[in-house]
Amino acid sequence: MSLDVNDPATPKLPTLPDAQTVTAVTHWTDRLFSFRVTRPASLRFRSGEFVMIGLMGDPDPKTGKQKPLLRAYSIASPSWDEELEFYSIKVQDGPLTSRLQHIQPGDQIILRPKPVGTLVHDALLPGKRLWLFATGTGFAPFASLLRDPQTFTDYDEVIITHTCREVGELAYGAALIDEIRGDEMLAELIGEGFADKLRYYPTTTREQSPKMGRITDLMRAGEVFADLGVAPLSPETDRAMVCGNLAFNLEIKELLEGYGLTEGANSKPAEYVVEKAFLD
Ligand code: A2P
Repeated sequence: MSLDVNDPATPKLPTLPDAQTVTAVTHWTDRLFSFRVTRPASLRFRSGEFVMIGLMGDPDPKTGKQKPLLRAYSIASPSWDEELEFYSIKVQDGPLTSRLQHIQPGDQIILRPKPVGTLVHDALLPGKRLWLFATGTGFAPFASLLRDPQTFTDYDEVIITHTCREVGELAYGAALIDEIRGDEMLAELIGEGFADKLRYYPTTTREQSPKMGRITDLMRAGEVFADLGVAPLSPETDRAMVCGNLAFNLEIKELLEGYGLTEGANSKPAEYVVEKAFLD
């Protein structure tokens, strides 16, 4: 039997509150996927911010009522993009991602149009060099910031480090870096040779790759700075944004404070900012 959606007798699909439609889904590994959804016409956000997204939860066994199941997700697309992109982990018994990983183009998700967050240019004082430190899905807000021309006009050099367990988990970030380096619109806006400002430093911890080790250990050993041919961070020239798992955030905070950088916020810009990557 097929349903005729134009037939008034056909039951209508329930419309979710704040519903947006999925336009594309890419599975990067068995633990990671990215997806794009329509953007509410009225949604304005700053590159690097996050919103609450999710799906309708299962009906309450007693009342039959359904409540939205929402989590904070960094918007991975830049503020000028006409769609919104998200990058997510898949946790097999995670309340949200066990279901979200099965979305297909045409499906609906819930998106609360209230962007917030500290990984924004406004929370940093002007500087010469911007460091973006990510682990795992913590790459997402930087996928937004790296596609924003302001990131390159505000700084002489932008260094993104990404530490993952396995090589396959670097694929989303690596593909994005390639795309940005070849982006003609960014080249036109920022100037030819802008791609030389962007340095990419991927590392893995549990699978062989050209650069092994946690970024924190590589910083303490001075290896990152030797590899990139740059001086260690200093509060005069360097600014940093951090997004990863909790242990990583705490460890790198301590390192950054050790270099003399102080933590900033929207209300009080300073030299570095931190946000926790989403984990289901
Ligand atoms: P490791 O494999 O040594 O734990 P996860 O997938 O668990 O979020 O981890 C993502 C990456 O972050 C992994 O490569 C992991 O390394 C690394 N990591 C975890 N904790 C820390 C930390 N305290 N400092 C630096 N890197 C960390």
